[in-house]
Amino acid sequence: MKFFIDTANLDQIKEANDLGILDGVTTNPSLMAKEGIKGQEAIMKHYLDICEIVNGDVSAEVVSTDYEGIIEEGKKLAALHPNIVVKVPMIKDGIKAIKWFTDNGIKTNCTLVFSAGQAILAAKAGATYVSPFIGRIDDSGWDGVQLIEQIAHIYNVQGFKTQVLAASIRNTNHIIRCAEAGADVCTCPLEPILGLLKHPLTDIGLAKFLEDAKKWQ
Ligand code: E4P
Repeated sequence: MKFFIDTANLDQIKEANDLGILDGVTTNPSLMAKEGIKGQEAIMKHYLDICEIVNGDVSAEVVSTDYEGIIEEGKKLAALHPNIVVKVPMIKDGIKAIKWFTDNGIKTNCTLVFSAGQAILAAKAGATYVSPFIGRIDDSGWDGVQLIEQIAHIYNVQGFKTQVLAASIRNTNHIIRCAEAGADVCTCPLEPILGLLKHPLTDIGLAKFLEDAKKWQ
């Protein structure tokens, strides 16, 4: 399973990248706004800054919702850097645009996916990634990881090449369950990634080893 970091914060991207286990980055308009980035030029520069830190796919989301607008915006984003993946919402014009991007060699991430039916459409259009939002599904009282399992199964049975990118990760256990469910990629904030390091028995065991090592002197 690949690891993407789900943030537009350059310091956090650097910290995750320094661990040596980062495969890419996902952003969305809310994450960009959180960093206080304003204006078209600054937004484009920020995507480039991210591409310079990480050697892997970087999802940049369009904000147009009509076919022509999505294509125009997506072409500009894709021209920025070879690692840019155009993130397109799961709407009718979005699916049409994903098919156009696929036919023209531009990578896509179909976002805001909440059902297996939507994931089938994204795969039919040739999306590089499909992003089911598991945390938001959990927030509404359903089981997000179950959807990952269902989509992974359908893609496997049907031979779809689209990669299942588990998004909207809320905690470390989500990452483990997504790995189990067959996600190709997990995109998460820095904290749940660092949470994978933690176990009290590791801390207790290390303290004892270090204490015993003093006996060598
Ligand atoms: C990433 O691709 C998604 O936009 C992101 O994971 C959504 O996460 P949220 O539900 O925590 O906003």
